[in-house]
Amino acid sequence: MNTKYLYINTIGCQMNVYDSEQIAKVLKPLRYRKTSFLEMANLIIVNTCTIREKAEQKVFSFLGRLAGLKRKKPDLIIGVGGCVAQQEGGKILERVPYVDLVFGTNAIGRLPVIIERIETKKCRVVDVEMSGQIEELDFGADESHDGKVASFVTIMQGCDNYCTYCVVPYVRGRETSRDPEIIVNEIRCLVESGVREVTLLGQNVNSYGKKEGLCTFPELLALINEIDGLLRIRFTTSHPKDLSEDLMLAFKDLDKLCNHIHLPVQSGSNKILKRMNRKYTRGLYLEKVDKLLNICPDIAITSDIIVGFPGETRDDFEETLDLIKKVEYDSLFAFKYSDRPNATAARFPDKISEQEKKERLQQVLDLQDHFTTRKNKEQEGSTQLILVEGFSKKQSVIDIQNRYQDVQWTGRTSTNKIVNFIQGDDTVFCNEIATGQMLNVEIVKAFPHSLWGKPVGVEPTSLGLRGEESYVA
Ligand code: 5AD
Ligand code: SF4
Repeated sequence: MNTKYLYINTIGCQMNVYDSEQIAKVLKPLRYRKTSFLEMANLIIVNTCTIREKAEQKVFSFLGRLAGLKRKKPDLIIGVGGCVAQQEGGKILERVPYVDLVFGTNAIGRLPVIIERIETKKCRVVDVEMSGQIEELDFGADESHDGKVASFVTIMQGCDNYCTYCVVPYVRGRETSRDPEIIVNEIRCLVESGVREVTLLGQNVNSYGKKEGLCTFPELLALINEIDGLLRIRFTTSHPKDLSEDLMLAFKDLDKLCNHIHLPVQSGSNKILKRMNRKYTRGLYLEKVDKLLNICPDIAITSDIIVGFPGETRDDFEETLDLIKKVEYDSLFAFKYSDRPNATAARFPDKISEQEKKERLQQVLDLQDHFTTRKNKEQEGSTQLILVEGFSKKQSVIDIQNRYQDVQWTGRTSTNKIVNFIQGDDTVFCNEIATGQMLNVEIVKAFPHSLWGKPVGVEPTSLGLRGEESYVA
């Protein structure tokens, strides 16, 4: 039987990256292998995001590009999954006549049956059913992870918070936590496949397990910290209202937990926070940041900011700038507010003009650039332990074979800063640098969005994890 090729275009958040991996896994028994060449594909899936207007626009512009391909290759199956699919359902089939399948955020487990039906019956299918338990997909160690050292693992789906700007509760459903045993097993399998770092995903990881009476999030972290062969744990996203002291202490107590927290504040104005239904005040947020910094002075803090939320006056916006100055984030994601379908704020009056939003966004980005650059500069001369993730950019095999010493590698500090480096000729290592190693790197130069380093030694804890790539220092 011939292999068939699957091309997945993942748009949007890390949750979608995880879901795309699950899609590839469930379709393996149907003999679909992943390809990065659109023209080779027998099945194209767009895994969509609707969190902001811009992400949704990307979906339809990508689908537009597929019209010609479908004409040339009538048997090509085109599927739209994820949040836009959940939100728009059958309307996508009307809007894009060559789409064969629309499947929602809870339908991944049903994909093999659906795809087989489309293959044999040449029909069009919509599956946006959200009710019932999310099916657990448990496939054991997966060789498709080869070479990858960092992986996402979803620990909870959905969200119950209903921030007024946000579409997530409508397209991802109610908050549901996965069983800790299943999560730990999944991570063990990933480690067996070569993964060394996991990022645990949930819309609000701090409330993990509460509804179901499972263990708490810090307890889950402690369980994961015990997994042999796993070197690093990250997680995202933390809702400030639920950031507990236990979680703060976990940063100090768990050796594998990276020194970084993403703590989206969204706005620095109490009036706007209230309208956003964020359930914390500026004061409470700053108090929690202070407490966290007391417990872990070196922790990197990053955040999300929305500018131009309905009713945000110039004074409200100034409060956001002021909060950014007070916290001095390591980095920020800033977004112009956009109306989302069903989200309450779409019905709020006092919308802010596009021009004003653009200007406010630029102000936030300029201010943050100052802090990011300063924080990166502070790293110069220090030695950082990084996990080597692979080559930093596409380099030809010939280059790599001819001048291995000059091949540019990339890794990340515990605080999530990107460090690029080359092995160099004056290396202290007898063997070459390899993916999956924990490496001590001296930071030689800071750039606005990355650091440049020089390897100075291998961390003994990472020796021998992958036999063929062990180092002798
Ligand atoms: N408009 C702009 N930004 C938004 N976000 C979520 N919804 C919207 C919206 N309607 C941002 C928030 C969130 C991040 C993932 O996306 O900052 O934390
Ligand atoms: Fe959206 Fe708020 Fe839930 Fe985050 S916590 S997913 S912003 S509703």
